[in-house]
Amino acid sequence: MTNSSSDLFLSLSAIWILVCASLALSIMAVVMVLRSRRGRRRSFATERPAAHSGAEAAHTLLRETEKNGQSADAALVNWTPDTLRRILADELPDAQVIVVSNREPYIHNLKDGEIELIVPASGLVSALEPITRACGGTWIAYGGGSADRLTVDANDRVQVPPDNPSYVLRRVWLNQKEHDGYYLGFANEGLWPLCHIVFTRPVFRASDWETYEAVNRKFADIVVREARNQRPIVLVQDYHFALLPRMIRARLPEAIIITFWHIPWPNSEVFSICPWREKILDGLLGSSIIGFHTQFHCNNFTQSVDRFLESRIEREDAAISYGGQASLVHAYPISIEWPPALLESLPPVADCRRAVRRKYGLADDVRLCVGVERLDYTKGILDRFHALEDLFERHSEWIGKLTFLQIAAPSRGTLPAYRRLHEECVRCVEDLNRRFGHEGYKPVLMVAEHHSQRRVYEIYRAADLCMVTSLHDGMNLVAKEFVAARDDEQGVLLLSTFAGASKELLEALIVNPYDAAMMADALQQALTMPADEQQSRMRRMREIVRDNNVYRWAGSMLLDAARLRKRSDTERVTTENGLPRGGNVVAMFRPNRVAAR
Ligand code: F6P
Repeated sequence: MTNSSSDLFLSLSAIWILVCASLALSIMAVVMVLRSRRGRRRSFATERPAAHSGAEAAHTLLRETEKNGQSADAALVNWTPDTLRRILADELPDAQVIVVSNREPYIHNLKDGEIELIVPASGLVSALEPITRACGGTWIAYGGGSADRLTVDANDRVQVPPDNPSYVLRRVWLNQKEHDGYYLGFANEGLWPLCHIVFTRPVFRASDWETYEAVNRKFADIVVREARNQRPIVLVQDYHFALLPRMIRARLPEAIIITFWHIPWPNSEVFSICPWREKILDGLLGSSIIGFHTQFHCNNFTQSVDRFLESRIEREDAAISYGGQASLVHAYPISIEWPPALLESLPPVADCRRAVRRKYGLADDVRLCVGVERLDYTKGILDRFHALEDLFERHSEWIGKLTFLQIAAPSRGTLPAYRRLHEECVRCVEDLNRRFGHEGYKPVLMVAEHHSQRRVYEIYRAADLCMVTSLHDGMNLVAKEFVAARDDEQGVLLLSTFAGASKELLEALIVNPYDAAMMADALQQALTMPADEQQSRMRRMREIVRDNNVYRWAGSMLLDAARLRKRSDTERVTTENGLPRGGNVVAMFRPNRVAAR
């Protein structure tokens, strides 16, 4: 070969090699992208294709949602029990899930010498039960049923659900003094009215506080005993356990503690009246994550901490740094399982209508409006009676044509405020029935009894309208259950603007329960709403509840927890290697400092 032809040959070879190399690189890049997409799909089950127009876009979306205090990956995933199981397996391998609540998911009672099983009327139970069923683990709760001791093993444990066991219920026994001071006293006469704007004065007794502290300690002992290792995920539920996170943190410094406050958090001025406000905040800040239903309540909590504790508020990260440890404060709107398991076994809507009408003696042409809740002064039960009175006065055409059925599960009945409410409700119902009822027709029926979930769903399906008129409510799951029960896409929901659910269910008729005339107008609108309008509103609300179901609620918290655990592990390695720690506020859990508290 001549010099020039060998030069040409070399140049061609170089070009060929370059082309091949860039082709190979492109193929590798495509394969990597496809793999990473497949990987994500494996991790989080069935995702929506539209959300995957590009990894970059997804990443940006995650960051944006995170910035707004929302849980990031949630929007990309179709949430099912399987999604939760995969998150646990992939993101938090070997982590034992421990749920702690006051109310147990299954109560065994003695009735006429027989053991009867009850699922209590509680939003917390409706939400947490399907989650614990999906994740397995242990649920620690107060055993308050009269046959609870008869149904546990030697370790106070019982496998539940009874028909298809998938997790352990560990019962905790409280004596009368403990129950009165911790549950009735400090939790329900103190914190409950403190956190709800209902103008019921909280009662704070030092003896109740001491008992509350002692019972929190008792539960902490049991959490530690039930933990299989140092790193469980503990899901602490509600205002019965404000001190528990700090107590667990001291003994299991590496645990992930997610505390969810199921009721509103008051503004700092209201919160300041609690004599033990600093201790409550300190207790809660033992948590890795503190969750509320709405951003508004997160803000109130953060404001309270800012005002009463020496702390650093990191608004960008939605985190609070206190005592050498950081806690995330996030909004996770709670929900229900979707589709509700019960629905499968319920008869069609027409059959439910017939059955409920027969049971309550309603004529065929009478519209049925329902209210379902615990008999509690936060629920606005009296206020809906006032609205009915206003409706009958201004629209007398509904007299004889509308019956309101109030299902009221007895609750905290030994407390004076609850006894007074019950008496007042009975008086009000009698008065309405005297004024607007006649032979064979009662405008209001109140049934103050526990109803099984099955009965409640049957009533939802039979109703033309459902009234949820809470004076103040963290979320209110009755609103979501009513929507879930209506697979016929009919029925109208009247929903209080003061319930967290009103921020999601915008197609409900949103009402102010303090305004009886406005609620009566909404009733009139509901009673005359055409079927196609009912359908389009109900359809939209069903989409919202489907997409924001309870698996998303729990999954978002678990994903956030997994991120914290990863950061904390990285942090530990960095510290162990003697490298300087990053300045990130969410560098979690420095065990030695926390344990020393
Ligand atoms: O959601 C608030 C809440 O107090 C839950 O904690 C509780 O499970 C539910 O209402 C019912 O109340 P109780 O457990 O006092 O009957």
